[in-house]
Amino acid sequence: MEQKTTPPVIKAVNLSKEFITKKKESGIKGAVKNLFFAKNTVKKAVDGISFEVQRGEIVGFIGPNGAGKSTTIKMMCGILNPSGGEVWINGLSPKKDRQVIVKDLGVVFGQRSQLYWDLRLGESFELLRRIYEVDKAKYDATMEDLDRILNINDIINTPVRQLSLGQRMRGDLAAAMLHSPALLFLDEPTIGLDVEVKYSICKFIKEINKKYQTTVILTTHDLDDVQALCDRIIIINDGKIVSDSSLEDIIDKTSPERQLIVDLYTDDIQLEHPRAEVVKIEGQRVTLKFRKTEISASELISYISKQYAIRDLSLVETDIDDVIRQIYKQQREPVV
Ligand SMILES: Nc1ncnc2c1ncn2[C@@H]1O[C@H](COP(=O)(O)OP(=O)(O)OP(=O)(O)O)[C@@H](O)[C@H]1O
Ligand SMILES: [Mg+2]
Repeated sequence: MEQKTTPPVIKAVNLSKEFITKKKESGIKGAVKNLFFAKNTVKKAVDGISFEVQRGEIVGFIGPNGAGKSTTIKMMCGILNPSGGEVWINGLSPKKDRQVIVKDLGVVFGQRSQLYWDLRLGESFELLRRIYEVDKAKYDATMEDLDRILNINDIINTPVRQLSLGQRMRGDLAAAMLHSPALLFLDEPTIGLDVEVKYSICKFIKEINKKYQTTVILTTHDLDDVQALCDRIIIINDGKIVSDSSLEDIIDKTSPERQLIVDLYTDDIQLEHPRAEVVKIEGQRVTLKFRKTEISASELISYISKQYAIRDLSLVETDIDDVIRQIYKQQREPVV
């Protein structure tokens, strides 16, 4: 008997997008020239990317400004047509089968609200409820859930135009979720938000992912969000995927060395270990460098504690911003 396999939630093959813009010259002379002779220039915003996303994954799309993240998201939700390659959402085309796909899709663009500016938040929701044909009982239950995490009731009667950025973002997230989509695209959902709102948004994403197995695609420049949420990170640079793995793997590959700082009760320190390097001894403090793959921190600590009484110790975490910056830089200045 033929077995039916479910397609991945997202499958992109060689997906590309070119933008054609007119190259304009400045000045009055230039303006006249532009009218008749402006040259077309082609920008490859997304340059042949391929990946698959399975149900329940939270995938972080990161990359420098202009890398092609938002363009990729727009192609995945059918706002933009690819110029090459293809993308499927649950085996369907986001453009051709938009009517079907849209019912199972939630989108938040942090830079631009999807809410109705002139309505109260609650009225916006009611309109969306009708558009998505969500029945009232289901809607009420979902709203109760959303309110618990995003405190929606506090702002439900406020006109959207009067909402602060953080309130508006909470409203946008709730709006994207009120038809309980199985796939959520979040393009910079925490941009410009204070730590408290950021925390509640991260908590919200985690909860819906756990509770409903919602698949989440998230772009952000905030690596704390990525660290808190994403099991998998796709790094895009100049329209191409330059890395697709877990944050842990990225750190292990780019910055495999960790540091252990130990304070002892003596300054007479003679310490050696075949799998760790003593970098510095300053008074009673010794700094060691080691690789996770060679020795674990606990093994090293227990080795030291057999020779010296330990007063205090700290493990220096890898700076993720540094690691990612290194990757972006490598791509800009390829090693020849
Ligand atoms: N409608 C458009 N017309 C022309 N060029 C565009 C258009 N949209 C995007 N681009 C260009 O495509 C490239 C990728 O843009 P995109 O918005 O996808 O980047 P991004 O990775 O989301 O960046 P950011 O982190 O700044 O949001 C940029 O060079 C941008 O100028
Ligand atoms: Mg963007």
